[in-house]
Amino acid sequence: MRIVVLVSGSGSNLQAVIDAVQAGDLPLEIAAVGADRVDAYGLERAEAAGISTFVVPFREYSDRSVWDAELTRTVASYEPDVVVSSGFMRIVSASFIETFHGRYLNTHPALLPAFPGAHGVRDALAYGVKVTGCTVHWADAGVDTGPIIAQEAVEVRDGEAEAELHERIKQVERRLLVRTLSEIVQN
Ligand code: GAR
Repeated sequence: MRIVVLVSGSGSNLQAVIDAVQAGDLPLEIAAVGADRVDAYGLERAEAAGISTFVVPFREYSDRSVWDAELTRTVASYEPDVVVSSGFMRIVSASFIETFHGRYLNTHPALLPAFPGAHGVRDALAYGVKVTGCTVHWADAGVDTGPIIAQEAVEVRDGEAEAELHERIKQVERRLLVRTLSEIVQN
């Protein structure tokens, strides 16, 4: 199985996948890691692991549909079986979803369908939930919507800050993402 991983930031979930592949625990090939911005640290993680990288810089395109078409074309050129949105903070078009229909995996730091969007942890804290968590799902054309594959709950501690809670969620999320990919490979 070949995957392309898309990142926008730190890429710690990507690192968990890289580590599992390198340890021989996850029999798949990371064909490439792509980003929407040149300064995404996840690109450095990929380069350090000898994985091909590409950037389709969102800010340099005046027209979203042109950016989207270029992203779709570039991802497709690596012929992935599965595309993983791992902290990729851009909404992709219906045509991207159509191209990778049923093959576009997303991770999200909340128990979907609660708290979708770019601030899942902040929104859960603001609502005052006592339990949140993370979700791995097949993405459709909505924002963090589509069939759920796996979820795990994380209890919110009293007075916890967003960054602290997000890090605890990500510890669970990394494991969940690796496990889900492993199950996809097996099936
Ligand atoms: C992860 O928690 C991921 O679920 C979230 O961004 C973080 C990326 O962390 N994605 C979303 O919020 C998408 N709606 P990472 O760059 O350290 O892997």
